[in-house]
This record gives sequence, C-alpha cells and structure tokens, in this order.
Amino acid sequence: MFVLAAAGSAVGLGNIWKFPYMAGDGGGGAFVLLYITCIALLGLPVMMSEVLLGRRGRSSPINTMRALAREEGRSTLWGLLGVMGMLAGFLILSFYSVIAGWTLAYVVEAASGSFAGISTQGVGELFNRLVGDPWRLMFWHTLFMVLTVSVILRGVRRGLEAAVRLLMPGLFVLIVAMVVYAVIAGDFLDGLKFLFAPDFSKITPDVALKAMGQAFFTLSLGMGAIMMYGSYLPEDASIASTSVQVALTDTLIAILAGLAIFPIVFANGLEAGQGPGLIFITLPLAFGHMPGGTLFGLLFFILLVFAAWTSAISLIEPAVAWMVERFSFTRIRASLFCGLIAWAIGVGTVLSFNHWPRIRLLDGTAFEGKSFFDLLDYLTSNIMLPLGGILICLFAAWVMGESSRRTELRITHPAVYALWRFLARYVAPLGVVLIFLHVLGMV
Ligand code: TRP
Repeated sequence: MFVLAAAGSAVGLGNIWKFPYMAGDGGGGAFVLLYITCIALLGLPVMMSEVLLGRRGRSSPINTMRALAREEGRSTLWGLLGVMGMLAGFLILSFYSVIAGWTLAYVVEAASGSFAGISTQGVGELFNRLVGDPWRLMFWHTLFMVLTVSVILRGVRRGLEAAVRLLMPGLFVLIVAMVVYAVIAGDFLDGLKFLFAPDFSKITPDVALKAMGQAFFTLSLGMGAIMMYGSYLPEDASIASTSVQVALTDTLIAILAGLAIFPIVFANGLEAGQGPGLIFITLPLAFGHMPGGTLFGLLFFILLVFAAWTSAISLIEPAVAWMVERFSFTRIRASLFCGLIAWAIGVGTVLSFNHWPRIRLLDGTAFEGKSFFDLLDYLTSNIMLPLGGILICLFAAWVMGESSRRTELRITHPAVYALWRFLARYVAPLGVVLIFLHVLGMV
C-alpha cells in the first residue's frame, strides 16, 4: 500500500510533462546527468528520512515534527518545517491543477479526433488556442480541483490503491509503445544523444539548481507528502527498499517519456527548449500519424489525468490532515477549504499564459521576466522543497537519537545504514547548500 501510494504521488505530471521540458531547456544530457545524480545522492536519503519521520510521528507533518522534536527534547519550532511544507503544497497544487486541466482538455481533443493527420503548425495552434483562452483554462482547472477534492474528502486510502494498481502498468505500457513509435518514426539516435551525451559546457549552477529542483519535485519530496504517506507504513516494512523501488520506478518513467518525446521533436524540427507546452505540442503529432493514434492518444491523456490526480491528492493531504487534527474540522470541511485556497491561487497561473505573461512586479531583480507560474514553480521546486529536504535530513540524521533512528529504519545491513547516515548527514545537506551558494555566486 505504501509503495503504491508513494508511487502514485511521485509519478505524475512531473515525469511526463515537466521532466522533458526541463531537460529540453537545460540542454539535454547535462541536465539529465545532474538530475540522476541528484536523485541518487539527495533524493534517496531525503526520501528515506522523510518516510522515517512520518512513520515515527504518525500524524500530519506539522504535528509529526512537533511531536518528534518534543520526544528528542528539542524546540517545537521544528513544526515550522511542516508549515513551510503545507504552504509549498498549496502553491504547487495551484499550478499543478492548471496543467492537469490542459491534460483534461486534451482528453476531449483526442476524443473528438483533433489529432488525426495534424500538421506541425496545427499542433502549435491547438495548444495556443487553449492556453490563450482563460475561460477554457478556468473551466478545466476547476474541474480538476473538484476531482481532487472529491477524493480527498473521503479519505485518501480508499480507492487510491486500486487506481494506482491499474494506472502504473497501463501508463508504463503506453509509454513503452510510444518509445517504440519514436524508434520507428522519429530521429531516435538524435533523441538518445540529446538525453545521454552530456555537453559538459552546459553544466552551470543554474542547470544544477533546476536539476535538483526537478529531483525533489518528481519524487514528491521536501514538503511532507511522503512523510504523510510514511505514517501509513507498517512497522515491519523496509524503508530502504521501498524508497529505492519508488525512486527507480519514477526515474524510469521520466526517462522513457524523454525517449518518446525527443525523437519526435527532432524529426519534426520542433524546438526542444520551448518550455511547458513541449509535450502538448509533440505528442499530438505522434498520435496524429500513428495507426490507431486517436484511440491511443485518448487512452494516454486519460491515464495522464489519473497520474496527475493521484499526485495532486498527496499535495493537499498534509494540510487537510493538519486542519482536522488542529481545528477539529470535519474532513469534508477541511478538504473543501484547502481545495478552494489552491483553486484561487491557481487563477494566477491561468492568467500567466494569456493576460499576464509577465508580471512586472519583480522586474529589476533576479526574477525579471518571470510569469506568475514561473515564479511559483521556481520558488517551490528550486527553493522550498530543497530547503525542506535539508531540514528533514538534518532532523533524521542529527537531531534524532541514534537508537530511535536505528530501530525505526530497521536496516539489518550495517553498511547500508552507514551509507544512508553519511548521505543524510553530510552529502544531501551540503549538496543543496553548495548549489544554492553557486547560484547566488558566492562560491
Ligand atoms: N511528484 C509529483 C509529480 O511528479 C508531483 C507531486 C506530488 C509533488 N506531491 C508532491 C511535488 C509533493 C512536490 C512535493 O508529478
């Protein structure tokens, strides 16, 4: 159950929508190399630490952190880590829902046969027509938020398991089939080279920051989502092996998505670094020209909606759980309230793609030219999640007593335990700090 829930949270738009366009933007191989390094050296130890704290605390992240800090005789200010996570959850969900809305809109496009025989120019027009219309975006954003809240208010455990059990294999099979199509119809070698032959001159502090942010985002780390799910993990389950399973599945799906997309991008002379529209412009071209593409495209976008749905749930579950614990709200009331907040912030992202492509507010700073959506994405993935991740590691690997963390992790192999401790104590926190300092130009 935990592996399913955590995989359901991890695998989502981050793998299929965000990873390809971030890789395209970050110069391909250089980004992918840094991303995989960040998954292994930062993502895994943070994930294990987060699950560990969640299982020991057994409540919402804020109360888990407060309880564990009290247990260790430390300040309950550690609860602020949960507060920052909750805030990050609202901000991420607000734009996540808008993008999931694009996916819903594309389910309808696929069903109505819009992709059949579509041209390179046609896919661009289809996408621009959607994002240029704030009312259409609002409609789909609202629908997605209603779907998310309707699951959350019944309690996440029910239904999630079945959904993920069907979803993961389905998504996997479809993506593999698309990679096969990319081998046949795309410039597969160019795609492969783009993703795996790093141009080392493209490794810059900025690309490292984005790769790190993407590693946190795609594994759902640093805001308490995994901590929340860790609280469902039974006493006897192994934290190390479940974390490795989740991270491997997630990475595999992202890489496959890249292999399905870039060969099509290059074969059609599309721009790899064009940003958030990348898959919505590339995939319909593939669906429009493969045999059975309409049905295939329909199935694909439906599964992507489900993947986004199981991820979105994990973004507000910590806040809902906390409101139920703290204010004795009913679950229904807390869910509606949280959904409404995230929905309202989402309006800013809806407008980012048409009326306010650039907010002028932060011009003249490092954020010049960033839209509301870009700012939220930057703030959450590149700053809040890694910061949350460091604090989680520091708590698990330094603050918590050696015997508590040993019993909780239950790693029988001493070398594996030592490796986790080394990564969580030194490598992950210093790695994040080093990347931050590089970006600020201080090292
Ligand atoms: N990991 C999800 C994805 O790849 C998104 C997500 C769900 C998330 N829960 C999260 C990201 C918590 C950061 C934190 O689509």
